[in-house]
Amino acid sequence: MEALERGFTCHHLWRVADDGRDAFLDRVAPRVRGAVTNGAVGMSGTLMRRLPELEIVAVFGVGVDAVDLAAARQQGVQVTNTPDVLTDDVADLAMALILAAARRICALDRFVRAGEWEKGKDLLAPPSLRGKTVGIFGFGRIGRAVARRLAPFGVHLRYFQPRPVDDAAVPRAASLEALANESDYLVVCAAATEQTRGAIGSEALAALGPSGVLVNVARGAIVDEPALLHALRSGELGGAALDVFADEPHVPPELLELDSVTLTPHVASMTVETRDAMGRLVVENLAAHFAGEPLPSAVG
Ligand code: 8YV
Repeated sequence: MEALERGFTCHHLWRVADDGRDAFLDRVAPRVRGAVTNGAVGMSGTLMRRLPELEIVAVFGVGVDAVDLAAARQQGVQVTNTPDVLTDDVADLAMALILAAARRICALDRFVRAGEWEKGKDLLAPPSLRGKTVGIFGFGRIGRAVARRLAPFGVHLRYFQPRPVDDAAVPRAASLEALANESDYLVVCAAATEQTRGAIGSEALAALGPSGVLVNVARGAIVDEPALLHALRSGELGGAALDVFADEPHVPPELLELDSVTLTPHVASMTVETRDAMGRLVVENLAAHFAGEPLPSAVG
């Protein structure tokens, strides 16, 4: 924010209450040439069309599914994102969620805090992660970083995405359903697109099965959330570890009641170093654009 304020005249739409936004936009719209948003808020075509001088939308995040890219193209607006700088931390959180689910860390934390250990309550041993199969849906930068982290844990790895990855050290499953079928853990690392929206539905969840665990660090929209709730509650799916949800920050209350579920509030990229690097890249993209230089990370 400091770098933005130093380099540009900033108008903070996000600080304006909903009922004041129209008047605010009427006032500043003719002067707005660049916009900054995040992965969750994105930018609608409606808002873009209200900004006739808009030249660039710089997204603080790698996912640009919340930006109306067609409207941007039509209006000649450049879109940038923040790839690479967040890959390691997002993959770390995926790894943390896999381990938390495998060893039931959050449930055990609740068990200790509730005094159950001292009361001598029985505990059931969970299956080991070692020897299990982990399927990765979406084998881009983040998916591959997750695979690298998992390699020393003695698991079998598979991936699926429609386009095979050249020289992948990990075998590609024939389809998403085949991947789910072969996997004990299914880790969602794909971008949310027309093709992946709702891709993890009742069929993939049934294929993952009663001892299977779904891990999602990508986008809630890729998972059919009602189907996930049904699969978890009926025992057709063993568990889930989720950083992202269909309608953030709303989390379905049914999920909160399930001990088999680990929940984090969309924080995979949220470390001091990564958020600083993402912020710097946003500013670098804006600065390059207004200096007429090549954009460090243009989308498309
Ligand atoms: C951010 C993200 O948490 O990179 C993404 O696509 O979803 C995250 O890194 C998000 O952009 C901040 O809202």
